[in-house]
Amino acid sequence: MTSSAILFASLCLALAAQTVTALVLPGTKTIVGRVSAGPIEISALGCGTWSWGNRLLWDYDPSQDEEIYRAYREIRDAGVTIFDTSRDSLGQFERRYLEEKSSSKSMFGLERMLAMLATNSRVTRGSYVKACKESLKRLEQDKLAIAQTHWSTANYNVFQEGALGKLGKFSNRMKERNVPIAVAQVQYSLMTARNNEILDACDDAGCRLISYSPLCLGLLTGKYNLDNLPREGNPRRQLFRELLPGAQQLLGTLDAVAKDVGKTQSQVAINWAISKGTVPIPGARNLQQAQENLGAVGWKLSNAAVQELDNASAGVNKKMIENIFQTR
Ligand SMILES: NC(=O)c1ccc[n+]([C@@H]2O[C@H](COP(=O)([O-])OP(=O)(O)OC[C@H]3O[C@@H](n4cnc5c(N)ncnc54)[C@H](OP(=O)(O)O)[C@@H]3O)[C@@H](O)[C@H]2O)c1
Repeated sequence: MTSSAILFASLCLALAAQTVTALVLPGTKTIVGRVSAGPIEISALGCGTWSWGNRLLWDYDPSQDEEIYRAYREIRDAGVTIFDTSRDSLGQFERRYLEEKSSSKSMFGLERMLAMLATNSRVTRGSYVKACKESLKRLEQDKLAIAQTHWSTANYNVFQEGALGKLGKFSNRMKERNVPIAVAQVQYSLMTARNNEILDACDDAGCRLISYSPLCLGLLTGKYNLDNLPREGNPRRQLFRELLPGAQQLLGTLDAVAKDVGKTQSQVAINWAISKGTVPIPGARNLQQAQENLGAVGWKLSNAAVQELDNASAGVNKKMIENIFQTR
């Protein structure tokens, strides 16, 4: 269970649980389906917005907002309502989207992810509440629909560290308070060292695993190699330099499976995460990436292909680093 996030749902939308990942009608765009997450429903695919505001890893600049909005519109049009947001312009994008559609039906009325960036300075209850208020302000909302704790620090790790063992207990405790757990957000990709324990723990607790960094920060897209790395000075450059040699076999398998099923490597990597019952939240920096990632739903990898990818993933000798608060 990650320290990175446990998502609490205070909404009690008693919607019927179903697992439909997408509806694709001939000649139309993909419509992402809905899946259960604790007592609520969420879209079967989400979107991470880290790159929509972060400079260090993603070279974000406000001049990118127009292109990011095009990606946002595409993703929203497809029915995605899970956006893992932090310091970005999601609230403005949603307002613009509603204005364009002449609609007042905000996705925020239904559900919202609210990720709070936990830094070392965010170790007191007050700083936690402050982060929450700041996020609400950015989202132009007045109350929380769903809250997500992000990266445990000493003050709240009592709920998270060792959470694999404690998740059930914690889940019961929260249920008693009428705040059932809806999802747990965990780094989950072909480059992450994982067994089924975490999935089983989520099942037992009745929550959905949200898989973050499903493309391993872009490495699994297949576009990076030792001759084509992120720019000098970007931390992804050194990271990929270290990870790529050990990932060659996996990337080869990904490429072969992608060719076999007529999809891209990114789509296969995301679909693999879906095949495990998770809701992936890939980042998309432009319209093209958004369209491609949406193409990861509406079809299913065969069991044999999943197994092949599992084997290749197990063979990666240097996995993606996990955040320092990650619960083992
Ligand atoms: N809870 C936590 O501690 C935590 C930590 C990390 C992330 N997250 C969440 O998970 C979300 C997703 O993870 P992530 O952003 O780390 O990485 P990711 O989803 O694994 O990779 C996203 C990056 O890959 C590239 N990309 C995406 N789609 C592509 C496509 N179709 N073709 C080519 N390149 C593509 C883009 O970067 P380039 O074009 O620059 O390569 C994009 O920013 C984040 O936005 C965040 O919300 C949470």
